[in-house]
Amino acid sequence: MAKIYVTRHIPEVGIDMLKDAGHEVEVSKKDGVLGKEELISALQEKPYDAVLCLLTDQIDAEVFDAVPTAMIFANYAVGFNNIDVEEATKRKITITNTPGVLTETVAEYTFSLILSLLHRIPEADAFTRAGKYEGWAPELLLGKNIAESTIGILGAGRIGQQVVKHAYNFGAKIIYNDIKQNEGLEKEVGAVYKKDINDVFKEADIISVHVPLLPATHHLVSKERLELMKESAFLINTSRGPVVDEKALVEVLRAGRIRGAALDVYEHEPKLAPGLIEFPNVIITPHIASATESTRGKMAELAAQNIIDMLKGKTPKHVVQ
Ligand code: GLV
Ligand code: GLV
Repeated sequence: MAKIYVTRHIPEVGIDMLKDAGHEVEVSKKDGVLGKEELISALQEKPYDAVLCLLTDQIDAEVFDAVPTAMIFANYAVGFNNIDVEEATKRKITITNTPGVLTETVAEYTFSLILSLLHRIPEADAFTRAGKYEGWAPELLLGKNIAESTIGILGAGRIGQQVVKHAYNFGAKIIYNDIKQNEGLEKEVGAVYKKDINDVFKEADIISVHVPLLPATHHLVSKERLELMKESAFLINTSRGPVVDEKALVEVLRAGRIRGAALDVYEHEPKLAPGLIEFPNVIITPHIASATESTRGKMAELAAQNIIDMLKGKTPKHVVQ
């Protein structure tokens, strides 16, 4: 019977899978993120063989030191920028993530943000609730049609490609930048590859960010690039906060240099850049793009399966190294 530590309660289905496989499972009792010291002392309590951790846990050398018996850290997320993977590799610790199961949900959520921004739904809702609706008017809260827009995708991985397919079905023109060109995607939906990322910023009406957070993508959406955008353009980010220079975004919004933005992730989560909440043309949501009951359950199953396989001596399906 192996010992597994889970850093926060996740959908029960994953915990049940670990128990049904005959393992001893300890779930953090705190209804919140464990601070670094709390995480370290929790891990020091028993010689755990595996840890199921979250994107809110910073997993580094000190954490690995706290639990030298652990063979695997299974991240309950597709992104794994919270884990020092290089350090894990040096120590022969396996790191896994939960790709695939959340692709459609995140793409659907991203698309909801795009449509809500273009049609000004949060603004219209606030307007109506505030008792400002005095009757139909020809020029009240005018939005923009997605079918008359060019969408620019930064990062055509699984999620980016799925957003592209939705955009195509809605009649948008599609341009994209990625480290590699994807001819299949171009044939399928007529997407046009922009080798120079700056061309996406110059030409798109809607920019949607789907790159992983890496040293090379930190502040990929920089002040200079935000200033290349059309004044009528929108920025959407459902990937990782630090990909966007959030302070610079507030500055360009304040200057009216772009039309609006929708963010589900932030540079210093859960803090927001000062000023960000002031703008009616900005939608801000609390990192919930993958949060459907079904998807969060599947993520729990996948993270649990990665651990179960590892403990059986098999290579888990979703190793990131
Ligand atoms: C969520 O942000 C994830 O990476 O799964
Ligand atoms: C994540 O699943 C991605 O590759 O976009």
